[in-house]
Amino acid sequence: MPTYTYGKTLLKVEDVSLEYDGRPILKHVSAEIRDIICTDHVQGQVVGFLGPSGIGKTQLFRIIAGLNKPTSGRVTINGQDRPVQAGEVGVVAQDYPLFEHRTVMSNLLLAANQKEKDDKTARDKVIQYLTDFDLVDKARLYPVQLSGGQRQRCAIIQQILCSDHFLLMDEPFSGLDLLMLEKTSELIQKVANMDELNTIIVVTHDITAASAVADHLWLMGRDHDAKGNPLPGSHIVETYDLVERDLCWHPQIITQPKFMEFVREVKDRFRSL
Ligand SMILES: Nc1ncnc2c1ncn2[C@@H]1O[C@H](COP(=O)(O)OP(=O)(O)OP(=O)(O)O)[C@@H](O)[C@H]1O
Ligand SMILES: [Mg+2]
Repeated sequence: MPTYTYGKTLLKVEDVSLEYDGRPILKHVSAEIRDIICTDHVQGQVVGFLGPSGIGKTQLFRIIAGLNKPTSGRVTINGQDRPVQAGEVGVVAQDYPLFEHRTVMSNLLLAANQKEKDDKTARDKVIQYLTDFDLVDKARLYPVQLSGGQRQRCAIIQQILCSDHFLLMDEPFSGLDLLMLEKTSELIQKVANMDELNTIIVVTHDITAASAVADHLWLMGRDHDAKGNPLPGSHIVETYDLVERDLCWHPQIITQPKFMEFVREVKDRFRSL
């Protein structure tokens, strides 16, 4: 296992609660993402929020993205003393929205120009990403002319270009075949490791896929009354540190017995929610 230490706090979910018409959806959700520093290579962060359908993952996703305000509590990034604002965290939605009437190049230049006022620097940045993601020959095509995987890569580049290091992905593994699933996992790790401060936050119910990419996982669930009925409002019921358990950063981790054991453990806990 590579030696690692923790640096500064990159993103903090501080005691977030959410209610609709007095009905609790999220209750005191807290989580902290810190910079993981490995001495011998650039190591980004990948974390996941897991939980069954209807538990509040998408609601939490929108709060972390700065798109919705919580009823109480807040989300902060980079140690700032103010809540995160929309646009500061890149958001890759499930259907990978792009501007359909613009080419790949034009979509990406538009995103790059939001942060980079110098046209040449913006263009160079876009070309670098297109090269890194094997999309150079697609630059002149329109989104409709891309395959699903190419579209996903394009949407990811677009969001990295216009946000600072943070990328939120809602259910990035759903509806993918085995090869695409593996490619998406590789892509998530590649994007994370492009910069020490890059942080990918995945919201999903796919335990195996999340475990294969994440260094930390939070499982969301509800409390139950004496009769076993779920009480309204969910919170973090389990925190899994995969670094500490030596379950990350191995090329073939998913084939190892200890990984399968871990997935079984999380699945059992998931079933008990
Ligand atoms: N505008 C709203 N008004 C009232 N309740 C809402 C509203 N939006 C969402 N909810 C409720 O919040 C709860 C959590 O929804 P959310 O979409 O976050 O679940 P999820 O964990 O993402 O589920 P899934 O895995 O099915 O996507 C649900 O019970 C839902 O009915
Ligand atoms: Mg959802």
